[in-house]
Amino acid sequence: MLIRKSKKLEYNDIEKLYMLAFGEKEGPIILELVHNLFKDNSAIPFLSLVALEDEKIVGHILFTKALIENIEANVQILAPLAVLPEYQNKGFGSELIRQGLDSLREQGVSLVFVLGYPKYYSKLGFMKDAKKYGFEAPYTIDEKNKDAWTVQELAPGIIGKEKGKIKCSDSLQKEEYWKE
Ligand SMILES: CC(C)(COP(=O)(O)OP(=O)(O)OC[C@H]1O[C@@H](n2cnc3c(N)ncnc32)[C@H](O)[C@@H]1OP(=O)(O)O)[C@@H](O)C(=O)NCCC(=O)NCCS
Repeated sequence: MLIRKSKKLEYNDIEKLYMLAFGEKEGPIILELVHNLFKDNSAIPFLSLVALEDEKIVGHILFTKALIENIEANVQILAPLAVLPEYQNKGFGSELIRQGLDSLREQGVSLVFVLGYPKYYSKLGFMKDAKKYGFEAPYTIDEKNKDAWTVQELAPGIIGKEKGKIKCSDSLQKEEYWKE
């Protein structure tokens, strides 16, 4: 397994990967999101990593810039993440997350948010129900899904001291991505 930054020419492979991982129904929606995020100035700085096995791209993760209203902080949001079906449950997703977080930490990012499976992300250091810590999602998350809105602190100093609502890049700041 090799994790590295994606290259511009790999866009077609990344596109195919999202279609295969998310299927015919959800795939095109996620694909459009990735497409928009890649050309969205408000998403910069972003971090786009691929996972390779035998030189084949089998996984992709994207972190993009977010803001916390009224707070000066380097914040990123993880979305989306996918691993090819036949390579799932082999640790590629977790390793993309771990190496992505290491790289963001080195770049001085202090908080990373993700809306996703709480059981999966909590094993990788994300804390469930970020609203409980004072960080409201860009759109209201259903009470039954509150644990899916998670946060991880990469550098201490914000959680417990600051509070605020998260604002994402223009491409992610759409209600459709925040509903079930
Ligand atoms: C979710 C996903 C990214 C995980 O990547 P992965 O490489 O398969 O996961 P890993 O091998 O690192 O970790 C495996 C763990 O993920 C869990 N997992 C996999 N898919 C899951 C799902 N749909 N819901 C909850 N947990 C899931 C497994 O149960 C396993 O848990 P365990 O460690 O307790 O056994 C991958 O399965 C995927 O691409 N799924 C389809 C697309 C998707 O749903 N993406 C969501 C993120 S936006």
